[in-house]
Amino acid sequence: MSGVLELTLNGRPRADAVPDNLLLLHYLRDVVGLTGTKTGCDGGECGACTVLVDGKPKLSCLTPALTVMDRHVETVEGLSPDGALSPVQQGFHEKLGSQCGYCTPGFVMATEGLLRRNPNPSDDDIRAALSGNICRCTGYVKIIEAVRLAASLQAQGAVS
Ligand code: FES
Ligand code: FES
Repeated sequence: MSGVLELTLNGRPRADAVPDNLLLLHYLRDVVGLTGTKTGCDGGECGACTVLVDGKPKLSCLTPALTVMDRHVETVEGLSPDGALSPVQQGFHEKLGSQCGYCTPGFVMATEGLLRRNPNPSDDDIRAALSGNICRCTGYVKIIEAVRLAASLQAQGAVS
């Protein structure tokens, strides 16, 4: 069985025929070709597949594609449509919040979701928001620093 998935993806409407059992992760990577969203555990444990659905972080490996019908989905590619780094991406870049980089799109999208609902998070807020994301490389200290800088950069952008 299949259906036609209509959604807004990174700000653009699109429609694709998809099987009923296709997961959002595989829709994004294999149907659309947006490979920034990563496959990690494929079972809801690592956060590498995090995207935003209507502005809120969601694990795309646990989300049937057809359940985002008529919703707004954002992937890491959507944060920098003109090629310039977003505040969150800049924060991770400057603070070395990324080493091998495999987990980074998931952390970036989880951070993006956090800063949209809480532009000035405490360290506890940051830890709670990123508690579902696993990184094997950084030890997390740099990631916390990256989110702090991202919040600061975003605030500067908001007032400039
Ligand atoms: S790939 Fe989705 S949580 Fe790990
Ligand atoms: S930077 Fe390598 S897993 Fe996080």
